[in-house]
Order: sequence, then structure tokens, then C-alpha cells
Amino acid sequence: MWHAAVRVIRYGRILGSCAAIVVCSAYVTRSTADTVGAAPLFGITIPQGYRDWKLVSVAHEAGNLNDIRAILGNELAIKAYREKAASFPDGAIVARLSWTFVASEENNKVFGREQSFVAGPPPKWYLQFMVKDSKKYAATGGWGFAQFDKDGKPSADKAQIEACFPCHVPAKSNDYLFTHYAP
Ligand code: HEC
Repeated sequence: MWHAAVRVIRYGRILGSCAAIVVCSAYVTRSTADTVGAAPLFGITIPQGYRDWKLVSVAHEAGNLNDIRAILGNELAIKAYREKAASFPDGAIVARLSWTFVASEENNKVFGREQSFVAGPPPKWYLQFMVKDSKKYAATGGWGFAQFDKDGKPSADKAQIEACFPCHVPAKSNDYLFTHYAP
């Protein structure tokens, strides 16, 4: 409950600063031609083998999203996380996978009360990636952002992709990553 309240407050703050930055910012000057399969703006496609990457941490978002998520990293990202690198190297990719957060009828039968919550079907925006390329994505902290739905189709909503970086700015001191490595 307390955590939820803190999260709501944090989000309020983040959203507020995002709105301000989105309105004022003209950082998105790159407008890549939409290629089939690649997400708009940063031209990122789904990296091969991402589902087998190592786990950075997990997170649950209550509220409207009400999802449960796994944050995974490719080899370079995991290495940077474990070495507590101040800046992630080019080629590092962090993935966020999400599922609906649902009560498990099957498990709750065993407990005799509603106690177990598990990953349900994926929501519309299943997959997000942050790809490090300090030259290509210099205007956005060295990170490219992409979002895909559960069928692997990229989010075509440019405004949504433009909103990614400004909202990650509060995590600048952590190379724009909010998620900390869960040992
Ligand atoms: C409203 C602010 C906000 C927006 C907009 C936003 N993010 Fe995030 N993002 C966060 C926060 C806060 C976290 C960590 C908490 C969580 O996972 O619930 C996060 C986590 C992530 C992570 C896991 C790594 C990390 O930084 O913790 C990825 C990858 C990610 N976001 C990608 C994206 C992409 C791609 C977009 C745009 C489509 C996007 N984000 C838009 C706030 C935002």
C-alpha cells in the first residue's frame, strides 16, 4: 500500500516533468523512414534471442497498467550491470517484457484464499527495448527506444516513442535506466 502510494507520487512527478520536457524539447530531429518490422524514430527491430537473455530484475506496476514485468539484458548489459558501470557500452540492450498481473485460480485453490498472482496473457505493449549506441542515438542519451506488441509488431505511435527518453531522464545518473540489478 505504502509502496503503491510512493509509486503513484513518483509517477506523478515523472509524468509532470515528462510533459514539460516533451513540450519544450526538439530533440527528436531524426525521423527514420518506417521499415517493416522496425519501430519508428530509432529504427530498432526485435533483437534475436532476447527471450533467453539473463534477468536483471522484476517489477510490478499497479494502477492502469497492472502488469508484471521482467527486465532482461544481453551479455553486454548484464556485464555492465554486474560491474556497476557508470555508462553502458555500445551494443548493450535492455529489454522489458510484460504480462498482465492476474490471480491464479489454480494456485489459490491450494492456498484456500487469494494469495497467488502470476503472469497472465501479455498486454498490448508487450515488449520494450533500450539499445545503446552512443553515436547514433547521441541526442537521446546514447539510447534508442522501441516498443512492440505481443504479435511482434512495432508500436507505430511516434508520440509514444518520443515520450520514452524524456521520461527516462530522471534516471540520468544511472545511465537512464531505472531498474537496478537484483542480485
Ligand atoms: C511515464 C514515464 C515513462 C515513459 C513514458 C517510459 N518509461 Fe520506460 N520506464 C519508466 C520507469 C519508471 C521504469 C522502471 C519502473 C518499471 O519498470 O515499472 C521504466 C523501465 C523501462 C525499461 C527497463 C529498464 C529501466 O530503465 O528500468 C525499459 C527497457 C523501458 N522502460 C523502455 C521504455 C520505452 C521503449 C518507452 C517508450 C515506448 C518507455 N520506456 C517509456 C518510465 C517511463
